[in-house]
Amino acid sequence: MLLSPQTAQATEQMQRENQPSWLEQYRKKVTSPELAVKAVRSGDAVYIHSNAAAPECLISALVGRANELEGVKIYHLLTLGKAEYAKAEYANSFRVQALFIGANVRDAVNCGRADYIPVFLSEIPGLFTNGQLPLDVCIVQVSPPDKHGFCSYGVSVDCTIAARKQAKCVIAEINKQMPRTLGRSLVHISRFDHIVETDHPLPELIPDEPSPVENAIGRHVASLVEDGATLQLGIGAIPNAVLRYLTDKKDLGIHSEMLSDGIIDLIDAGVITNDCKTLLPGQVAVSFVMGTKRLYDFVDNNPMIEFQPSDFINDPIIIAKNNKMTAINSALQIDLTGQISADSIGTHLYSGVGGQVDFIRGANKALGGKAIIAIPSTAKSGKVSRIVAKLSPGAGIVTTRADVRYIVTEFGICDLHGKNMRQRAEALINIAHPDFRAKLLEESKEISWLR
Ligand code: COA
Repeated sequence: MLLSPQTAQATEQMQRENQPSWLEQYRKKVTSPELAVKAVRSGDAVYIHSNAAAPECLISALVGRANELEGVKIYHLLTLGKAEYAKAEYANSFRVQALFIGANVRDAVNCGRADYIPVFLSEIPGLFTNGQLPLDVCIVQVSPPDKHGFCSYGVSVDCTIAARKQAKCVIAEINKQMPRTLGRSLVHISRFDHIVETDHPLPELIPDEPSPVENAIGRHVASLVEDGATLQLGIGAIPNAVLRYLTDKKDLGIHSEMLSDGIIDLIDAGVITNDCKTLLPGQVAVSFVMGTKRLYDFVDNNPMIEFQPSDFINDPIIIAKNNKMTAINSALQIDLTGQISADSIGTHLYSGVGGQVDFIRGANKALGGKAIIAIPSTAKSGKVSRIVAKLSPGAGIVTTRADVRYIVTEFGICDLHGKNMRQRAEALINIAHPDFRAKLLEESKEISWLR
């Protein structure tokens, strides 16, 4: 049984006093991964814990039953790990319903043997809570229990509380190495039907060294960040590069769906103090973290890091309560009117809607808020411009041209708010890569209202 020294001591005391306790329940529920996943039946809808909390041991056991199962629907957000259930050989057994497309299911979605559900991250918990997506089984990975029997959802709280509450059966992988995070992260072992004990490191996301282009973008974005601002940093290479250029800022705060390693140095340096936050002052508000073991150790038992579910962190009304809320997200393509494509490259589905719109809308409504989309001007080693006259056929618009505000590339910054179509086209061509500016101008002339 996986217990901290403190819990072990308490356990011994309870045993000595012969008191009934949650430990009895715990012992009865502990089983092997193979027996635990017997709870999944053909046709069931199964939710899998997200990001770095995907319970690999239970997933392997579930995939091991592929020959016995048919038509099991697997719901999840981004997950790190192998996601073997998405392999072509298991297509009759499992069908992924991705609420965000990670690298591990991208091929399956684009081949048509997995599905993608475009949805705002803030609204995913509601899909479970209101029964639109009924769940039979929820599979989570949590920390060992404390002396009261409470485990922690650890590095990923996001939509898991809603999924756990709604599912008919909950299977928990209790991993000795899952950090015990605080906030609304705690879940009592009485909520689990089956428990499996494991002891393995969490998957790590090691950030690449930012490229010169990402560094230039980081500097431009940093120039928009005011002292006392509360930041959201989206997914991708750029938000992480931005953090490097914030070292001379004062009293920054964090309210963000996700966090990466970059924030630790800024907290240590006294740049992120959270002192000026108008919501949850003194605390970093977050719903999941993905990074290295250093980050996972940092959030362990850290009262400064307040984990909250996505329907709180990503609610635009909640976000807007943060004065100077500054949302920094990225994109794949943007047209000359400011329409942002971020979940697909043409018809090739790439990622998801995530929290981009939640935070853009929240930041736009916040007092002194700023919504920033930061992109390299080109992709594919400079061969294609990300700023285009028309989006590629099939491109999914994540952020509309009415929501969009600041656009940043390595060539500068433009603010599209209140600009007409012609002014937008001009502003965006000015921050496009110089190699593509003449072509963009030519193409814009083919559209009568841009001429
Ligand atoms: N045309 C062709 N290929 C393109 C392209 C374009 N316009 N834009 C990007 N690509 C390619 C890149 O070259 C790269 O290919 P590679 O993997 O072979 O190098 C790949 O697509 C990914 O692009 P990149 O910009 O490097 O991605 P990223 O990791 O920085 O993430 C987003 C950027 C937009 C995918 C990411 O921010 C995202 O998923 N956003 C959606 C929702 C969101 O913002 N949510 C908020 C936080 S959850």
